[in-house]
Amino acid sequence: ASPLTVAIDGPSGSGKSSVSRALARDLGLAYLDTGAMYRALAWWALERELDLQDQALVAQAARDLPLRISTDPDEQALSVDDTDVTQEIRQTRISAQVSAVATNLDVRGELRRRQREIIEQERQRSGGIVVEGRDITTVVAPDAEHRILITASEEARLARRALEVHGSAGAEQLAATRDQVVRRDADDSTVSTFLEAADGVVALDTSDLTLEQVISAVHALVRGEA
Ligand code: C5P
Repeated sequence: ASPLTVAIDGPSGSGKSSVSRALARDLGLAYLDTGAMYRALAWWALERELDLQDQALVAQAARDLPLRISTDPDEQALSVDDTDVTQEIRQTRISAQVSAVATNLDVRGELRRRQREIIEQERQRSGGIVVEGRDITTVVAPDAEHRILITASEEARLARRALEVHGSAGAEQLAATRDQVVRRDADDSTVSTFLEAADGVVALDTSDLTLEQVISAVHALVRGEA
């Protein structure tokens, strides 16, 4: 079979990571979580106590970033300079500050270059890759064989993220999650188009679907049945 790239974008809390990983596993493809790369850079910049507002300094850190990321959907491992940061990059302090590095255009240039390299490599090596993020369908891999935007209502996204982070979706947990989800999407959308589907990108509204239903819908799209 010819190599396959499946590009999946969506806002935070859309469920795109779970869907993308499951799809890669089912199709026997590699998997790349590009958000993890931005998170790793934010972690490293904070570790080195860099001023995240210093554009030139953070851009240089992106070029120097000694990052290793697994493309195995069953092994989500990520290290910076041999320090395993797989868990650390999920901390709230990283979620709260990652947009500051991700809205740096030189940072984006560097991380996109690395992402395209990984995609090319996995197309040769693994027969293809599922890549998820915010600008994959539009900028990183606009020529991907499949381009999908996973959307969900703000209400649904808040509830999912609250459950994931706090274990429940009561009023208090929803309020605590709001900054992370809503403010972050607002900041991120100043540099990427992921709130609406671009030309040629198929939008899938998952507000009223279970994870299993979303996975089957994406399978149908990739098989060309939808
Ligand atoms: O997907 P996740 O929520 O882990 O992404 C973390 C952050 O990385 C996003 O909030 C955004 O700032 C940045 N990001 C990006 N472009 C991508 C993927 C993620 O700017 N393709």
